[in-house]
Amino acid sequence: MRPSSFFTPQNALACALLAAPLLVTCAIAQDRTTEQGEAQITDPNEECTPYYYAPVGQAVAAGQFPPLWTPATILDNDTNAQNKYNSISGQIPNIAPKGTQPQSLEGNWTGFSYPSTDPDCWWTFDQCTTPKLAGLSPDLSVVPEPNTLGYGFDDGPNCSHNAFYDYLQENDQKATMFYIGSNVLDWPLEAQRGLADGHELCVHTWSHRYMTALTNEEVFAEFYYKSLTLLQMQAIKLVAGVTPTCWRPPFGDVDDRVRAIAKAMGLRTIIWQYDSNDWRAGTGNITDADVDANYDTLITRVQNGSFNTEGTIMLTHELNNFTMSEAMKFYDQLKAAFKYIVPLGVATNQTQPYVETDYAQPNFEQYISGTTTLSGNPPLPTSGSTTSGGSTGGSSPSSGATTGTTGTNTGGARRLAFDGPGVGGLAASALFIAGVLRLLM
Ligand SMILES: *[C@@H]1O[C@H](CO)[C@@H](O)[C@H](O)[C@H]1NC(C)=O
Ligand SMILES: *[C@@H]1O[C@H](CO)[C@@H](O)[C@H](O)[C@H]1NC(C)=O
Ligand SMILES: *[C@@H]1O[C@H](CO)[C@@H](O)[C@H](O)[C@H]1NC(C)=O
Ligand SMILES: *[C@@H]1O[C@H](CO)[C@@H](O)[C@H](O)[C@H]1NC(C)=O
Ligand SMILES: *[C@@H]1O[C@H](CO)[C@@H](O)[C@H](O)[C@H]1NC(C)=O
Ligand SMILES: *[C@@H]1O[C@H](CO)[C@@H](O)[C@H](O)[C@H]1NC(C)=O
Ligand SMILES: *[C@@H]1O[C@H](CO)[C@@H](O)[C@H](O)[C@H]1NC(C)=O
Ligand SMILES: [Zn+2]
Repeated sequence: MRPSSFFTPQNALACALLAAPLLVTCAIAQDRTTEQGEAQITDPNEECTPYYYAPVGQAVAAGQFPPLWTPATILDNDTNAQNKYNSISGQIPNIAPKGTQPQSLEGNWTGFSYPSTDPDCWWTFDQCTTPKLAGLSPDLSVVPEPNTLGYGFDDGPNCSHNAFYDYLQENDQKATMFYIGSNVLDWPLEAQRGLADGHELCVHTWSHRYMTALTNEEVFAEFYYKSLTLLQMQAIKLVAGVTPTCWRPPFGDVDDRVRAIAKAMGLRTIIWQYDSNDWRAGTGNITDADVDANYDTLITRVQNGSFNTEGTIMLTHELNNFTMSEAMKFYDQLKAAFKYIVPLGVATNQTQPYVETDYAQPNFEQYISGTTTLSGNPPLPTSGSTTSGGSTGGSSPSSGATTGTTGTNTGGARRLAFDGPGVGGLAASALFIAGVLRLLM
């Protein structure tokens, strides 16, 4: 019996009843192989200790993804991605990337001159959300229902999100989660929790760069991956079993070229009307008090009737302890001020949130009448569907995690145990840990 299957929550009682020498081990052991086990960890430091999840480790070892946290390109040997790119390239308008890499990747547009008429509807230039190119829909920046807050969080999954997700669960509140692909691969069980809790998962790109700075192929690759599935969508699919239909540009950086590529790949563009600036707190001149003031302003505006004809969207984040704490601190006040707080897909009656038809999301009427959960028979994650090696293709969320390897947390030390893919597994784990370390920096 492997330690992973031994230390399941269901076995906690049996564990406690064991002989004295084992008691200490039992008390500190956590199940880091299933969504349910991971969701029960309450110590943020423990939550953020890296673990090994076999389907992801194997896919990374097999070279199925570009390096984490670097701008994605189509992998040399990925003919499926290349073919898919070729099939949509005719739909990409002839608009040049903005600025000059590498500084443009971080939003430094020094030396780039752009006409003041904003020919490309470049949000970063003037917050344009109504495309100038024919055939593109306006970005969603407000919600149609009056006095309604379209509720969403960017940049997850964050390793320490259990307290926040528990809070949302206690309030039976669903939200739209814009996950970063590299975060999803670093924290796959946390991404699975987003789906299991009934939140709506949308794309926030592979590496979180300024999208208008990228070449056509790079924009494509930030979205897409092999076998006619999408790259960051593929990252979400690998761990959560779904392919999203919505995305939000990092930093709001979108223009008609990027919108056209997103559209060709089945993604609706979602932006915002107000920025809480929670993500900037502690940087530049933005203080925690400024973020409080931004929340307060929004609440004041609801109260003075600003949203009597249509609701709004505020940019908020699952980025770190502060941004999640702010969300919790203001939730009751937002709830009292707004008539409704709903995920963005609910606000717009997107009853099929994913490409997979197995899921149905409630529409606005259903949600406000109390049906807040996704229904259907979700395709649960299997390692067999997305990795070439190894799995028996089980159909429960835990089956993928328990084929192969186990992560064991011994007293806070970073240590990984393997019983699966041998050298390949070690290589996968090294890559995987490299990714995690990169993001812990
Ligand atoms: C595909 O290329 C990547 C590097 O671009 C490599 O890591 C991987 O092993 C290759 N996969 C196959 C199946 O050849
Ligand atoms: C922006 O890029 C230019 C050109 O590389 C560089 O000189 C400048 O220091 C950069 N600005 C910031 C704020 O990084
Ligand atoms: C922060 O500084 C920028 C200019 O650097 C300014 O435009 C902005 O108003 C300042 N914000 C606050 C809250 O003081
Ligand atoms: C509500 O307050 C905001 C901020 O003070 C103001 O800009 C807006 O015009 C007000 N709206 C109404 C309907 O009074
Ligand atoms: C997640 O949140 C924790 C707690 O604030 C923080 O230390 C960590 O850097 C965050 N992780 C990422 C990837 O932003
Ligand atoms: C923030 O960190 C504190 C201390 O670790 C923790 O008790 C609290 O639950 C965290 N809050 C959130 C929202 O993660
Ligand atoms: C959503 O559907 C409801 C009926 O269930 C309708 O009243 C409302 O106008 C729709 N909203 C949108 C944005 O389509
Ligand atoms: Zn972001």
